[in-house]
Parts: sequence; structure tokens; C-alpha cells
Amino acid sequence: MLTKIGLDLGYANITLSDSAAAIYREPSIALIDKENRRIISVGDEAVKAFDGGERTVLVRPFKNGLLFDHKITQSVISNAMRAINTGDRIRCMVGVPSDFVPKQEKELFSMLNAAGVSDCYAVSRAVAALIGAGYSPMMSVISVNVGASRTEIAVFNNGSVIQSASVAVGGEDFDKVVKQYILEQGDVNVSLSVAKAIKERLGSVWTGREAESVEIEGTLSLTGNKVRMFVSTEDIVGVFEKPLHMLLMAVAEVIKKIPLDHVEKTFENGIVLTGGGAMLYGLDMMMNKILGVPVTQPRDAIDSVAKGLSRINNFIPVKAHVANKNITSQIAKYYENNKS
Ligand SMILES: Nc1ncnc2c1ncn2[C@@H]1O[C@H](COP(=O)(O)OP(=O)(O)OP(=O)(O)O)[C@@H](O)[C@H]1O
Ligand SMILES: [Mg+2]
Repeated sequence: MLTKIGLDLGYANITLSDSAAAIYREPSIALIDKENRRIISVGDEAVKAFDGGERTVLVRPFKNGLLFDHKITQSVISNAMRAINTGDRIRCMVGVPSDFVPKQEKELFSMLNAAGVSDCYAVSRAVAALIGAGYSPMMSVISVNVGASRTEIAVFNNGSVIQSASVAVGGEDFDKVVKQYILEQGDVNVSLSVAKAIKERLGSVWTGREAESVEIEGTLSLTGNKVRMFVSTEDIVGVFEKPLHMLLMAVAEVIKKIPLDHVEKTFENGIVLTGGGAMLYGLDMMMNKILGVPVTQPRDAIDSVAKGLSRINNFIPVKAHVANKNITSQIAKYYENNKS
């Protein structure tokens, strides 16, 4: 029997979805011995085992959608594939950025093969995100997927992508401004993972988030001594301006290029906003206000790409005739056939 899976290789998370749409997620990270570059552990285990960095370092192997370390990427992928308990053949739809080139695709496929996948297809992440959120690629609609390092934007009309962009802004840029703010305010250094936790718990780009404060640990930048301090919702309310502006501008740039005869229909449906980075409190409302189009966000927006990939895998026939291994342009056809 053939096992069909969707695989979203993100900068922050590697997410796998099986044909029943169950989600398996691990951080895409490896713990490396600084001295001999040996991989000690990967995924959740690596995060647990990290002790602060005297002799070890945490490394993320896919930056900006690119695979920059073959060995680490291979072990992160192989580790994630353990979630699939099967001795069967595996067919995998893997999400890729819109500017992924065939050479990168080939390299990725060979790593997937080494991890036990028999058949691989590449699908644009923006297409997968739209379908995973429950929308049809036949609509006139804008898919915006905000990850941790990258945002994928695509405008759909009648099954085709008529405008797209892949830009280097994402959730981690929002973490960096929180880290910077704490350094400037209190001369306190916090790790990016602490800044990320603060952003998720307290961060907001719109009014209405319940006021809260959390106690965090950092080090005084002058002495290196450990300190504890409180950060509140209100403290960080204005810090996101720069990355927020970059993100909104990137979407506005794509919207500006929509051909005139498609504008009205596209603006009616507006934006489908997915990805973990899009879960920042109020981002949907801010986008709606600034860009003037409706913005809808599915529940579990962080899973949309992986869910969409496994859905696509379910409706593409096993013996489908596909022109090449990048199946993005043919998805609408199969989507339509599946509906009827
Ligand atoms: N509740 C939340 N509020 C704000 N941000 C959140 C929340 N939950 C997750 N995030 C952010 O989502 C990001 C991870 O999202 P996601 O898993 O979609 O990224 P990725 O796919 O790994 O990255 P990329 O697509 O750039 O390769 C992180 O920056 C994380 O801080
Ligand atoms: Mg992503």
C-alpha cells in the first residue's frame, strides 16, 4: 500500500501530515558539538539537551527556504520521518518557496529518498497553505503564509497563480525587536527563544489583548550576571513597527500588481492568512485596516501548509500523469476533478 504524506520543511518547524490529516511537528534544529561538528541530537531532543552553549550549539539547517547544511538537513528530515510507521511505499508532497530552483529540488528529493520516501513532488507553499486553510485555488484570492523566516504571497485566479513573491520577513524578525527592546531598556540580554516566548505570550499589533506580565531571565550586558525582570503586554506594544511595516509593504507590493480586471473579485475575497508567524495577536486586523481587504485566518494557521500538502496528496491519483515533479501548476485541475 502507498502511504501519502505532506511535509513542510520550515525554518522553525518541520511539520508532517498524514492522509488522516494528523499533524506531527518538531523544531527543525540540531544540537552540534562545537569542537568536532558532530550531530548530538535533533528536533525536540536537541532543544531539551541544550545546556546554554559552552560546548554545544543549536543549528537550524533550512534558512530562508534554502537547505544550507546537507548533513544536518538529512538528519532532521530522517528524524521527522520516524513519525510515519509504515513499511510501505511513501509518496510525499513537499512544500517549497516560490523561488526554489530545480537544483535545490533535486537535492531535497535525494534527501527524502534517503529518509525512506519513494516518490516526491514539490508544491508551492502558498498553494498548499490556501488548500490547507480550506479554500479553493479556483477562487480569486490572496494567500499569505507568514513563517518564521519567510513570507510566501500568491494571488490566485481560476486555478493559476497570477502574482507571487517570497520575501525574507517572518516571525523571527518580530522576536529580534523584542530582544533589542529589552537590551535597550534594561541593558539585559535575553536569548532569541526567550524573546520568542515573550512575543507569543504578550505580543500584539492591535488593541484588545488582555494585559499580562511575565518574569523572565536574562544576563546584564555589562557584568554577565544573571537577572530576573518583568515584561508586560504594554511594554512591548510599540516594538513591532519595523517588521510589521516590512510585512505589510511586501503584501501591498504584490496587491499593486494584480491586473485591473481581477482587482474587484480578488478584493472581495481578500487575504487568507496562514503560518505560525501570522498568529501574532491582531495581525489579521492590522492587515485588514492597512490593506483594505477582508482577512481570514483559519484555526491552527501554523498547520495550513502541511495539511494542504497531505490533502493535495490525497486527491492526486496514484497513476497521475504529471509533466514534472513540480506539480504546483497542475493542482487546480486535480482539485476540480476531486470535487466532482
Ligand atoms: N501564538 C503565536 N503568536 C505569535 N507568533 C507565533 C505564535 N505561535 C507561533 N508563532 C510563530 O510562528 C513562527 C513559526 O511558524 P511556522 O512553523 O509557520 O514557521 P516555519 O514554517 O518553520 O518557517 P518558514 O516558513 O519561514 O520556513 C515562529 O516565529 C513563532 O514565534
Ligand atoms: Mg513555513
